[in-house]
Amino acid sequence: MSIETDFVQANPESIEARPLKKAFDFDVCIIGTGRVGLPLGLSFLGAGLRSVGIDVDEQLREEVNQGRMPFSEPGYDELVARRDFQVLGDPSTVSRSSAVIITVGTPLHNHIETDLSQIERVLGQIAPHLRAGQLVCLRSTVAPGTTEFVRKWLERHTEFRIGVDLYLAFCPERIAEGKAYKELHSLPQIVGFTDDESGMRAMALFGRLTEEVLPTDFVTAELVKLFNNILRYVHFALANQFTMIADDFGANIYEAQRLANYKYPRSFLASPGFTAGTCLRKDFGMINEWSAYPDMLLSAWKLNEFMPAFLVENLLKRTSLHDKRVAVLGFTFKAGTDDLRDSLAPKLWRYIHRQLPLEIRISERHVPDPIPEPSVGSPRNWSVDDALDDVDIVFVATNHDGYREALISLGKRSPDTWVADLWNVGEVDQIFYQAGRLTEEIAK
Ligand SMILES: NC(=O)c1ccc[n+]([C@@H]2O[C@H](COP(=O)([O-])OP(=O)(O)OC[C@H]3O[C@@H](n4cnc5c(N)ncnc54)[C@H](O)[C@@H]3O)[C@@H](O)[C@H]2O)c1
Repeated sequence: MSIETDFVQANPESIEARPLKKAFDFDVCIIGTGRVGLPLGLSFLGAGLRSVGIDVDEQLREEVNQGRMPFSEPGYDELVARRDFQVLGDPSTVSRSSAVIITVGTPLHNHIETDLSQIERVLGQIAPHLRAGQLVCLRSTVAPGTTEFVRKWLERHTEFRIGVDLYLAFCPERIAEGKAYKELHSLPQIVGFTDDESGMRAMALFGRLTEEVLPTDFVTAELVKLFNNILRYVHFALANQFTMIADDFGANIYEAQRLANYKYPRSFLASPGFTAGTCLRKDFGMINEWSAYPDMLLSAWKLNEFMPAFLVENLLKRTSLHDKRVAVLGFTFKAGTDDLRDSLAPKLWRYIHRQLPLEIRISERHVPDPIPEPSVGSPRNWSVDDALDDVDIVFVATNHDGYREALISLGKRSPDTWVADLWNVGEVDQIFYQAGRLTEEIAK
């Protein structure tokens, strides 16, 4: 299917001109109003659609229905405060909506195996409430073949036929957390479908958010989403591998990166860092589960997962962690977010913990105190100043703003303190250094 030709064919007049069904109370119902579903529902509201949500999380429902964002996603405070987007617990709400979009979680099982349970549960809950003429869009990130599974599931468990009296499309979410408000309008929307009517309806719906809607088949749409994420994951893994290679040779990875990228049009070497988060850490498994042998995707996983051990092992070549006071700056999976899910920082914490330090002080200003991370015992959340007071060793786990200034101040009063700074937030151009290096660098 050629995107160019099919897009033109599938786009008579304008997608926006196609009316949404008025026989329903809502134009769109989002099932699973988490980090993906809530911004989406609010953006549809902002685009003038009557949108509603369904979620099993009672606390989340309460927060949204009282006009507050349950997590940080810039740009949405005003829309949520209008309280026009309500999140309900009752799955029968789907019967009141022209379109239904499924955005529940799709983790991996403990083994490398896609976990379809949340999607199957949603299908079971909504099946009795589906009505003829509705559009169902799957938007969770899924393994290739999942939309076809949903098609067969719906045809087995309802009286409807896809493309005849019920419509189905796969419309992947490709936003980066923290950028949803802009990217839901600026990113082209891929729409996978098997019959034209489903495609037309899904394109009409997402055409209300974004100008470019790109039609394709189910599996291609599923793969494009996975390829986008896996590409980033492998790219970052390579940057992390280059970091370890440079370290083995006693070379400076940050300088090497700058030189490699400087005015060289074929280089886009990424910076080293902790690469994880709910999407990047698991999406490779949705393809890798079909491979019997170690491959590049599995190697990328291994490399990225190794970085906390790399930091601890190499710090131990310089100083001991045993009986020391250790600070960990940042705990979320990436800079500027309050999302702790699938962060590599708890893994770092556990490797530090194995050395039996006196104390591990975590400072993460984006989350409450105590830190809601049961895997490390929901520890106290220290302010940066308190965490760095009289500390022996600092690990920078997340590259939030403001850490360079805090490390400079540490360097002035405690120059011998060791810092493990994979992200180079101190701009010293070394992964391991003593805090006094910061003041020396500034004095140069
Ligand atoms: N977070 C991202 O930046 C991002 C980006 C692109 C794609 N994705 C994908 O989008 C999907 C959702 O991710 P997320 O980060 O929004 O997850 P999330 O956990 O924040 O949201 C999922 C929501 O679904 C709700 N839920 C679970 N089962 C339910 C049910 N049976 N009925 C109603 N609600 C139910 C949960 O309570 C939760 O609020 C995943 O497949 C993920 O891989 C995420």
